[in-house]
Amino acid sequence: MLSASALAWARSLAWRALLPLCLAGPAAAADIDRGRYLVEALTACDNCHTPRGPDGYRLDKRFSGGSQTFNGETYSVRGPNISSDAATGIGSWSDERLAAAIIAGVGPEGRLAPAMPSEYYRILTARDLEAVIAFLRTAAPVEAARPAQRRDGEQKAEIFPGAEAPFEESALDDPLRRGFYVATLARCMECHSGETNGALDHKEKLGAGGKLFRTPAGTAVGANITQHPTAGVGAWSDAEIKAAIVAGVGRDGKPLKPTMANLSKAHFSKMTPRDLDALILWLRTIPPRPGP
Ligand code: HEC
Ligand code: HEC
Repeated sequence: MLSASALAWARSLAWRALLPLCLAGPAAAADIDRGRYLVEALTACDNCHTPRGPDGYRLDKRFSGGSQTFNGETYSVRGPNISSDAATGIGSWSDERLAAAIIAGVGPEGRLAPAMPSEYYRILTARDLEAVIAFLRTAAPVEAARPAQRRDGEQKAEIFPGAEAPFEESALDDPLRRGFYVATLARCMECHSGETNGALDHKEKLGAGGKLFRTPAGTAVGANITQHPTAGVGAWSDAEIKAAIVAGVGRDGKPLKPTMANLSKAHFSKMTPRDLDALILWLRTIPPRPGP
């Protein structure tokens, strides 16, 4: 059951204020290419919405639903079918409904569980949001029933500080803001910030590491990627940090655990040099913190 307040919010028009006004018109080829880049190199929608086989993503069933179940105190959900199938996917959804799900976390039954990371996607510029939607619509329709989602009570989602509102396109010309944009869409801090009382603490523990991941491949701990010279990556060269991000390789040259390395290989390896340089520039501004 959704709480009354969550439903009221979803039904209210409040979230509409977040939507750009320009969601209209057929997508140009450039939009689709930009959308593909954003989805494949940064937002990694496949990670939760495409089933996996022994060799990675089942691209023949792309976007038909993820393999992983996300459990939180108030939810147990799986990435549903977002292929263009009209009956079981998002083929019949308007651009506005899609935008509401992607950047405001509003789904057909009200507030989505925060496992859908809309709080990191709200920053998408109007043009980039359009591009993501345009690319999503190019995926082949795959029939796959919607998973039975469990949501109990209010779905609380913390907005990533700095990502409260869509960026203006011009912000991406500033390398530092571009770096923040890249880090936000790639959700680096959703895995790398430390926690206080079980909740991510982007203010006091930005990038400080310590979050625990239990996966079929074993456990992993989010690394400290602050500028701390010993606990973090402050003493690493740019090339060493880049190798961790795009190749999933640690400073010692050994492969990082799959929680990071899979994203590196499937997604971050596709980052443009411009985005990667901007990302490093922003990472260098993270205050050093000890830990985890
Ligand atoms: C970390 C995992 C994760 C990532 C990454 C992710 N999603 Fe989701 N998404 C989910 C989950 C889980 C749900 C279901 C939440 C619920 O039902 O409460 C969901 C729901 C949705 C929905 C609503 C669909 C429906 O039928 O209810 C849409 C649309 C969507 N996601 C699109 C996207 C797009 C586009 C991207 C990439 C820009 C993306 N998601 C990235 C996990 C993710
Ligand atoms: C799904 C969670 C997740 C996301 C998203 C993620 N990381 Fe990681 N990352 C990890 C984990 C877990 C490790 C530790 C891997 C290990 O122990 O081998 C790691 C390791 C690293 C390392 C190596 C640090 C060290 O001390 O070995 C760097 C650098 C890094 N990540 C940067 C990033 C950046 C930058 C982003 C965003 C572009 C990012 N990560 C996104 C989970 C994630």
